[in-house]
Amino acid sequence: PIRLAVFASGSGSNFEALVEAVRKQTVDAEVALLVCDKPDAFALTRAKRLAVPSVSFYPKQFPSKGSFEKEVLDHLEEAGVDLIVLAGYMRIIGSTLLEAFDNRIINIHPSLLPFYPGKQGIQDAFDAGAIETGVTVHLVDEGIDTGEILAQEKVAIDPDDTIESLEEKIHAVEHVLYPEVIQTYIKKLQKEYA
Ligand code: GAR
Repeated sequence: PIRLAVFASGSGSNFEALVEAVRKQTVDAEVALLVCDKPDAFALTRAKRLAVPSVSFYPKQFPSKGSFEKEVLDHLEEAGVDLIVLAGYMRIIGSTLLEAFDNRIINIHPSLLPFYPGKQGIQDAFDAGAIETGVTVHLVDEGIDTGEILAQEKVAIDPDDTIESLEEKIHAVEHVLYPEVIQTYIKKLQKEYA
């Protein structure tokens, strides 16, 4: 099966949902590695509990983005990774990883792109008083939240929603949508390689 690396910076709930989907065999892959750029992130605790190998880094300890990504790349190659899945990874992917994984890096973003890109898509839609937002899964290119869109799902912002209730609704959509889109993309890659 295709080998995935999940990159996360925070809670890791999407990482866990993906591991569960793999275990239920709704995603035909293996989660080979969790890559984390925040050594105190809860995602690492989840990885231990789920028995998924993980590596974590302090990117600031590297002299450049390129040297950091080269180190990450070494771990990906060692783990035989075919596809990178970003799940709350709050760092822009640089040319080293983009060139090594051309069209093989997927991201999930909590808004209907191109609306509300960046680090706080949920908060920005809420603060703008939007009546609708959603979730986007897209391929990663050199821009910020600009790659080819693979899927989008709308989420209503109701008058009585709080930022917390909106976050919950968005995460619930993400945990179902992301594994589905990853599975579809894996099928596409397998056809290309066949
Ligand atoms: C998710 O809502 C994801 O869409 C978002 O971070 C959250 C991570 O949650 N990503 C971005 O905002 C990327 N710009 P998780 O750590 O519980 O999976």
